[in-house]
Amino acid sequence: MHTNRRILITGGAGFLGSHLCERLLNEGNEVLCIDNFYTGTRRNVAHLLDHPNFELMRHDVTFPLYVEVDEIYNLACPASPIHYQRDPVQTTKTSVHGAINMLGLAKRLNARILQASTSEVYGDPSVHPQPEDYWGNVNPIGIRSCYDEGKRCAETLFFDYHRQHQLHIKVARIFNTYGPRMHPNDGRVVSNFIVQALQGLPITIYGDGSQTRSFCFVSDLIEGFVRLMATDDEVTGPINLGNTGEFTIRELADRVIDLSGSGSELIFKPLPGDDPQQRQPDLSRARSILNWQPSVSLDEGLKATIRYFDTLLSE
Ligand SMILES: NC(=O)c1ccc[n+]([C@@H]2O[C@H](COP(=O)([O-])OP(=O)(O)OC[C@H]3O[C@@H](n4cnc5c(N)ncnc54)[C@H](O)[C@@H]3O)[C@@H](O)[C@H]2O)c1
Repeated sequence: MHTNRRILITGGAGFLGSHLCERLLNEGNEVLCIDNFYTGTRRNVAHLLDHPNFELMRHDVTFPLYVEVDEIYNLACPASPIHYQRDPVQTTKTSVHGAINMLGLAKRLNARILQASTSEVYGDPSVHPQPEDYWGNVNPIGIRSCYDEGKRCAETLFFDYHRQHQLHIKVARIFNTYGPRMHPNDGRVVSNFIVQALQGLPITIYGDGSQTRSFCFVSDLIEGFVRLMATDDEVTGPINLGNTGEFTIRELADRVIDLSGSGSELIFKPLPGDDPQQRQPDLSRARSILNWQPSVSLDEGLKATIRYFDTLLSE
């Protein structure tokens, strides 16, 4: 597909954003990537800087932005607990003020706007797997609330702009996604395990490792984003995007050790507070509305991610 739209990606120098920039440029679009480099880096988009249709701008989404574009992907927000808990007030501001500023821009331009929301809006869920009409079980005053409630409020704003101003919104609820360009030290389980395995350090498992997670490879997620943005105006979401394959943390550790040829041993530490025991997307809507489902296996995705970290750590 070759199109020629002007597309704004907030948080475009981050993990998911950099892959989205790449994908949309490859389809022949103009991409304006804005980022305040809080967790993202120029390195993630360095290979795009010479592309004639790519522009990188330092900007914080908590301040208004005046540019001319046809579509907006709003990804700006630190995504891992270590990062979003470092400055929780700023995290809420990024989600809430960022959404207000980007929705205001979309309204002025009559542009489509997609929000990168999260499975964290379901909190510690009492329903498995989680369908989009489950309202969630979220602690409003805990240490994760700046992220969870910030993202929930952003969704509220998206739907109010839609109802009040007929804005063309798309809300994606992203479940655990991994791949090249994740941060090496952000405390997320896939990057943690791979870095520990490649450095020959013990692999730390919190709890007994029987808690399960689902892992979506980044290229699958980006395909879901692009399909969602391309839907008819009446499709607003929210739509879950993720992978339904469930693995225990122990299984993940074993796969990483195996695929990286590491001699690391496993060590076990107590579980941190508010850590959900299980989370898995119900992908029925994504299948029926987007005709989408993830296709990259855990082994394939882990191999690509291990290659990336191997290069990064040897630089
Ligand atoms: N990766 C996942 O598994 C996952 C899961 C659920 C939701 N998400 C959402 O997807 C989006 C991207 O996540 P990611 O994994 O790529 O994380 P990331 O931290 O790599 O990317 C976030 C980007 O936003 C930028 N940013 C943060 N605050 C900003 C601000 N105030 N102004 C401008 N830029 C700002 C960061 O510098 C970074 O480049 C986030 O909104 C996140 O909440 C990701």
